[in-house]
Amino acid sequence: MRYLIANWKMNSVDLDAWEREFINIVSSQNNFPKSDELKLIVCLNLYDYYILSEKIKTSKHEIFNKISLFAQDVSHHDEGAFTGQISSKFLKKAGIEGSIIGHSELRENGDTENIVFEKGLKLKEDALSSIFCIGEDLEILENNKKKSFLLNQLQAFCKKNLSPDLLAYEPIWAIGSGKEADSENIASAVSIILDFFEKKKIDCPILYGGSVSKNNIEEIISIPGIDGCLVGNSSLEGEQFAIIASKIKS
Ligand code: 13P
Repeated sequence: MRYLIANWKMNSVDLDAWEREFINIVSSQNNFPKSDELKLIVCLNLYDYYILSEKIKTSKHEIFNKISLFAQDVSHHDEGAFTGQISSKFLKKAGIEGSIIGHSELRENGDTENIVFEKGLKLKEDALSSIFCIGEDLEILENNKKKSFLLNQLQAFCKKNLSPDLLAYEPIWAIGSGKEADSENIASAVSIILDFFEKKKIDCPILYGGSVSKNNIEEIISIPGIDGCLVGNSSLEGEQFAIIASKIKS
């Protein structure tokens, strides 16, 4: 199984156009991946969630029909006076299947390793799935500290029987920069992660995120150990996202 995840962040997406463009590409290709070959996930805000979930339910196209909807964040608290936050219980009640946690844009705003771990615990308690993000910044990369940095992020999360459902390696310097990590860099991160998972007996797909587009998806997805991608900018238009999906073969 391969995975393709859209992270719409706080961008506004024209949902009618997104669906129309996506379906146009699906309909124009004979060998568009089927839902048992490619798992599609869209991580979006709650307002769009209600509209898109209706479209998904009523779609006649099986691949569109099987899109899963995730949140982009979850609170590490249960409930109470936490203005603006959303608990995993609330996500569950709304019908959302899981959430991204540990995205660098949230780590930058104060999410520590421990908060990310607690968010993971909350999702697990409510039987929701986690997309756990890790990744180094340019300074760490240039100072050759990538391995110890990634291992620290993995160790801080994978304790007390917690492990992610999906892991996304997203080097911070590649996010939104138009400069994707080169294959060698991605492969070295994959080997660090796989080695860690093997020692801990964790079975978890590994995804790459950071300036993924229709131009580089084939190269990235062919890197051994990469099971899919997490896409920001290039997921905002249904056509681009569907073209990326069409280039992922299992
Ligand atoms: P871009 O694809 O826009 O670089 O964003 C990547 C990302 O942050 C996905 O979570």
